[in-house]
Amino acid sequence: MVDYPDHNAESLAAWDANAEFWDQAQGDEGNYWQRTLVFPHTLELLQPLPSSVLEIACGNGNFARQLARLGVAVTASDGSDAQLEQARERSDGHNIRWIRLDATDRSALAALSGASGAPFGAVVCNMALMDIAEISPLFDMLPLALSEGAPFVFSVLHPVFRPGPQVHLYEERRETEDGRFIEESGVKITNYLNTGVNHGIAVKGQPAIQPYFDRTLTELFSTAFDRGWVLDGIREPSITDGGDGDSPHRLSWDQLPQIPPVMVARLRHRG
Ligand SMILES: C[S@@+](CC[C@H](N)C(=O)[O-])C[C@H]1O[C@@H](n2cnc3c(N)ncnc32)[C@H](O)[C@@H]1O
Repeated sequence: MVDYPDHNAESLAAWDANAEFWDQAQGDEGNYWQRTLVFPHTLELLQPLPSSVLEIACGNGNFARQLARLGVAVTASDGSDAQLEQARERSDGHNIRWIRLDATDRSALAALSGASGAPFGAVVCNMALMDIAEISPLFDMLPLALSEGAPFVFSVLHPVFRPGPQVHLYEERRETEDGRFIEESGVKITNYLNTGVNHGIAVKGQPAIQPYFDRTLTELFSTAFDRGWVLDGIREPSITDGGDGDSPHRLSWDQLPQIPPVMVARLRHRG
């Protein structure tokens, strides 16, 4: 199963409740993950940069502002009024049109084809599909809002290394050949196929727990492939510079340069 419509209201209420906290955590330019893992690869997959882009689930508008500074006419949307309010407040002087858009709402998505800026030269959705209760409506309806062959670029928590089935581990063992001690950080994956609705936090200290919609790679991509999309770009970035020093402990993602916490993908609709 990939869609959990009964949890959409719960999810949006959590994002409303967390909006101010999320905005502080993201700042103007996005947090360390956004700046190093998400934005550079998203921008790369969006090349050549189109003149107009629709953003789904824009949060506090960090990526929309980047695109606008690059000269793109951006229509940025989110399903949470409180997130949009934070985004607007931070974005004076940027050429961005803000709209409230629940990405699970088929008629609102259908109306995008007549929106100003449409047809869009690309759609982007950063780090949000795992927070969106239903993803089929997007894959069904976005082709109507896009120019022919235009890309849909999205980033997500990597479905293989997503928080639900994954445990961080640190090991010390003796090398039998020469008696040296080998220290290694890693992740153990359990229950990868056990998908569904789970709960957690995106940032330590956030006021409200949020639902996560855990989907395997197959669930995510088959939902798109079954609706005529093809995958033509993918990135699996990892933290290779030791991180920003915020979590130096051995179990942190900062210590796992060989494991990608994020996946960025580009789809195009066959028309
Ligand atoms: C992890 S945040 C990502 C925000 C932003 N893209 C970023 O990278 O900072 C997830 C976002 O998904 C939005 N969201 C959750 N459910 C949604 C829905 N049904 N429709 C539109 N946005 C939704 C939330 O309001 C939140 O802004």
